[in-house]
Amino acid sequence: MCGIFGTIGDDAAMRTLEGLRRLEYRGYDSAGLAALFDTSDKEARVETERAVGYVSDLVSKVNGRFKNSVIAIGHTRWATHGGVTEVNAHPHSSADGLMSVVHNGIIENTSELLSEINESGYSMTSETDTELIVHLLHEALGEQRTPEAALEAFQTVIGRLEGAWAIAVIVSGMDGILVAKNGAPLVIGRCENCISISSDPLPLYGSCSEVAYLDDGDIAYVSQQKVDVISESADLTFAPHQGDYSPEDPGIFAHMMIKEIHDQPTAFQNAIAGRVSADGTNAMLSGFELDSRELRKLDRINLVACGTAFFAAKLGVRYIRRLSDVPVEAYLSSEFPVESVGGKNTLTIAVTQSGETKDTLDALTRAKVAGGHVSSICNVIDSTIARFAGNGAYLYAGPEYSVASTKAFTNMSAVLMLLALTLSEPDNVERARVIRGLREMPQRMSNYLHSEIDFEPIVDLLVDSKTALFIGRGPNSHIASEAALKMMEIAYLPCIAYPGGELKHGPIALIEEGTPVIAIAPDDSHYPKMEANIRECASRGANVILVTNRETSVEDYCARVIRTPPTDPFLSPFMSIMPLHLLAYHLAVRLGRNVDRPRNLAKSVTVV
Ligand code: F6R
Repeated sequence: MCGIFGTIGDDAAMRTLEGLRRLEYRGYDSAGLAALFDTSDKEARVETERAVGYVSDLVSKVNGRFKNSVIAIGHTRWATHGGVTEVNAHPHSSADGLMSVVHNGIIENTSELLSEINESGYSMTSETDTELIVHLLHEALGEQRTPEAALEAFQTVIGRLEGAWAIAVIVSGMDGILVAKNGAPLVIGRCENCISISSDPLPLYGSCSEVAYLDDGDIAYVSQQKVDVISESADLTFAPHQGDYSPEDPGIFAHMMIKEIHDQPTAFQNAIAGRVSADGTNAMLSGFELDSRELRKLDRINLVACGTAFFAAKLGVRYIRRLSDVPVEAYLSSEFPVESVGGKNTLTIAVTQSGETKDTLDALTRAKVAGGHVSSICNVIDSTIARFAGNGAYLYAGPEYSVASTKAFTNMSAVLMLLALTLSEPDNVERARVIRGLREMPQRMSNYLHSEIDFEPIVDLLVDSKTALFIGRGPNSHIASEAALKMMEIAYLPCIAYPGGELKHGPIALIEEGTPVIAIAPDDSHYPKMEANIRECASRGANVILVTNRETSVEDYCARVIRTPPTDPFLSPFMSIMPLHLLAYHLAVRLGRNVDRPRNLAKSVTVV
């Protein structure tokens, strides 16, 4: 996690603060800035400022003080080593103040390096692993100030590190930024009168006309004149960087999360546009290196994903199994058993919004090493995973800023449905019905989101609870899991999700008078068994909140019923999830939570 940004050019610090603001979704517990005002002065100390909290807190502290700086680097943090304090916030500087470092990643051989720098007379002021880097570089570089010497010293230091990093360093008396990448993303952006480095290409839209991605193992000295790279892979190549930066702007909505829930009809339309035929007879996901016939001949497909993306992948497995004969399973990226399920004639697909999730990237890398095909289903264009896979399908959900994923979940599910249709035989009897259902979905979503639903009486049932239990069956068991995750992460309410059939095998013990049980029971083949579950919960005192699209004989057993529009049973998860994301949102708002930036989380999880 963490975001790093740096600029060489006019008003470098102000541009860096803007870059950090755009990277804040990567981590937001503290932020910091380091800058130089005159690169010819070898004795000038690097000016720094750090703040606990958001980039806006840093901006307030900076208060215009860094105007006219010519080189700056900055950092927005998601703590790994050391608590959330100003002292642990980046940048970290050498004791003489002549160099400063920012770092995204984890240094694993910290203890060994710590004793080494202590022996050399350096002492640490913070609890971070990052600070080690600046002391090691200080020792290796000494008084030297040429790009060649700096690169050599930096290479020596980087060679000592184990772990993952994107690192940027500025040194007094030098007109460039030293950067290194290994296992954490780093991109260089160039325009006419400035050059920037960034954790991802997003902040560079609108300011840089071309970008180049560093590879793992690369070390570079980036200056306005040129970029000197030490690389084991191909030369650094700049490619045009076209597109607009769409700012994090909730518009008429109170938060990004609720805006993104309301973005769904458009996002869904974009996911299926050009992928389903107007006459409803054909659906195809192109972009995979294997065509549909080759895909059908695979021994197996593995979906790897984390969190919300994993629940979308589980849903995708149901769709693929229903519409095709290709063996498929979804795995949590961090638990991917590649030894058993990877290898020749398998395809492993990373399902990810950010395209930066380290666990998922690692799983995909292991699948490739095992000799299988790899692809991605991803939202962020040109993200690390999308580039690593080199083929696959984008979600086209548009930027998702709220840490809690909503529209990306829906689009992942839609794209996985399209994959299932791509895998299905052309004469599959369900195809036409499913395609028609997909085509109708944006309008249905829009109608639903425009209907006035009063969540407050339902929030009343949850607001003082110790826990909430979510149950569903079949595909909607994954909706139960996703809804529970969402409520837990933004409302901080412990939530448990189980397939309805498992209730009696343990979780029913939690139910006492007033325990909220959210039951998802649309009109499908699982409905009768869900009714039985609802009765079992209600007779033990639960406040059942039922999400359904049918008339029901258990209404009297429910404290509240949330009605969703009727749909094809196969597509009901797209409808069930909307009120549940909304419910999580309204509960979090009532509890006064920071909905878009829940504590301890980050939008892009680049550590394992
Ligand atoms: C939950 C959430 C996380 C992410 C997970 C994977 O709302 O957003 O659980 O789904 O961290 O992230 P991506 O999809 O970027 O790989």
